[in-house]
Amino acid sequence: MGFLTDNSFNTKELDGKRVLVTGGTRGGIGEAIVKRLAHAGATVITTARKTPDELKASDLFIQADVSTPDGTTKIIKEVLERFGGVDILINNVGGSSAPTGGVLAQSDNDWQQAFETNLFAAVRLDRGLLPPMIKQGYGVIIHITSIQRRLPGNNTMAYSAAKAALTNYSKGLATEMAPKGIRVNTVAPGFTETKAAERLINRMAQNSETDYNSARQELMDSLGGIPIGRTARPEEVAELVSFLVSDRASYIIGCEHIIDGGIIRTI
Ligand SMILES: NC(=O)c1ccc[n+]([C@@H]2O[C@H](COP(=O)([O-])OP(=O)(O)OC[C@H]3O[C@@H](n4cnc5c(N)ncnc54)[C@H](OP(=O)(O)O)[C@@H]3O)[C@@H](O)[C@H]2O)c1
Repeated sequence: MGFLTDNSFNTKELDGKRVLVTGGTRGGIGEAIVKRLAHAGATVITTARKTPDELKASDLFIQADVSTPDGTTKIIKEVLERFGGVDILINNVGGSSAPTGGVLAQSDNDWQQAFETNLFAAVRLDRGLLPPMIKQGYGVIIHITSIQRRLPGNNTMAYSAAKAALTNYSKGLATEMAPKGIRVNTVAPGFTETKAAERLINRMAQNSETDYNSARQELMDSLGGIPIGRTARPEEVAELVSFLVSDRASYIIGCEHIIDGGIIRTI
């Protein structure tokens, strides 16, 4: 396992793999990853705080808030009981709920919440799900970070700092786990037009009495423009993840993979 073979290029290259993707609902990047990896033949378990109607009877869904120790404990317990562990873990949940108003408007609680959601959730899930990976001598972990780990946002400084910490932790984990057959990498998306992003753009358009395209352009301009001239689709991020978790990426370890249409202009 872990070597490139002729079979690596078939569309069912993840056949037999057990995958956990956190936050795989509501039209976000996680949902696109769930669909892409299931398409490649994997058994994909996902989580969210709210159970979507179509997943109510599914044993491939776990309802939990990953930003709490109780939530991650529940996920680890259910995954171990139902599947004995996973081969691939995608720590996707993340985001910022801090108020606008700059760094002075951000309370201790805002900072704590940013780190619970964007760093500690991944640390706790990795810690709970690594032992069976180590035992079988095989595993892949992806941490979804953000270009904000390099480009701190005005109203999202705690989020940016937590993603920077996640990147640093991910590198250390990759080094420690590589000799045990486990590959760890990060994926750092830029502005990705998820369903939540669409809602935000619509709200901005309403507030400034403009249209959707102008509000989207305003957001793109606030990032200094996007050289490719458009936002990312969640499916594009999922495609990168599907490559990184496959044996086609068997020698890629401890790297940050930026997918941002060229927003980050520095090397
Ligand atoms: N979208 C972007 O432009 C962008 C850019 C850079 C990086 N990223 C990163 O990409 C990842 C995915 O972002 P996204 O924009 O796709 O998110 P999203 O559209 O807001 O989707 C979030 C998903 O995570 C779940 N979720 C949110 N908070 C949760 C919690 N505390 N516990 C459990 N589930 C939770 C949501 O379901 P419930 O609400 O039901 O819990 C939903 O399934 C994040 O790490 C984000 O930081 C996104």
